[in-house]
Amino acid sequence: MTERKKVTLLKLFKKMENNEPISWLTCYDYPTAYLQDEAGVDMILVGDSLGMTMLGYDSTLPVTMDDMMRHTQAVRRGAPNVFLIGDMPYMSYQPSVESAIRNAGRFMSEAGCDAIKLEGGAEMGDRVRGIVDAGIPAFGHLGLTPQSVSALGGFRVQGKGALQAKKIIDDAKALENAGAIGILLEMVPDRVCKIITELAENCMIMSLGSGPDAHGQLLIYHDMFGLYPKFKPRMAKVFGNAGEVILNGLTQYVNEVVDRTFPQPENYFQIKDEEYEELLEILD
Ligand code: KIV
Repeated sequence: MTERKKVTLLKLFKKMENNEPISWLTCYDYPTAYLQDEAGVDMILVGDSLGMTMLGYDSTLPVTMDDMMRHTQAVRRGAPNVFLIGDMPYMSYQPSVESAIRNAGRFMSEAGCDAIKLEGGAEMGDRVRGIVDAGIPAFGHLGLTPQSVSALGGFRVQGKGALQAKKIIDDAKALENAGAIGILLEMVPDRVCKIITELAENCMIMSLGSGPDAHGQLLIYHDMFGLYPKFKPRMAKVFGNAGEVILNGLTQYVNEVVDRTFPQPENYFQIKDEEYEELLEILD
């Protein structure tokens, strides 16, 4: 295991200043977190997308705070050095500023997060302000916000029209003014993302399918490795087909059990002859 220094907010802002892109991935479990930390990923998001990728729901809406705590704790154990961001699940912050602060606090105290993320624009400004005033770094999330997928009319690009794009730009400024340390732009057109990045004064703008001009990039881990069976978003780049490798291995395992080529002697344990003889005598 290589020694790696902890990625802090200060380091991330230094990268931003030096125009060095920031890498960000989703992650939901201990072994993957270990590998991501080893690979040098800057930030991990334990997204409520775990509802779909790990728990098999059709949307992120059924995910609870307890689901998030369990997965985020495992990720922190696997990746002690990354900047860890917990995703506030549906209805953990929408009801009130008080609920937002309380649940954001759980990510910090119970799961060892460095920051939290929540979805929404200017209307969430008071939640962001409350969380930041409580000493918790907060990320915003604009564009395609999966918790509002029904209101947005499905998983589609946001901000294609000039008026809608202007609203996203205004929302980004409102979140920054409320104290957000960063904003994720999901499926926003590249030139709109570029404008928001150029307008940001003290706020990390991150892109998920929103082009190269942000301060950094986010991808969903399961999309990168063919691990989500239902669909692959167009914006996701596949870096390797682990799903296919695993499926081939599983099929081979089933076949080898059926034709008795598994197990071989190296896959099981033996008793010494003299012990076995004694055992037979005892059994007699
Ligand atoms: O939950 C998640 O992983 C997210 C991404 C879609 C950005 O919020």
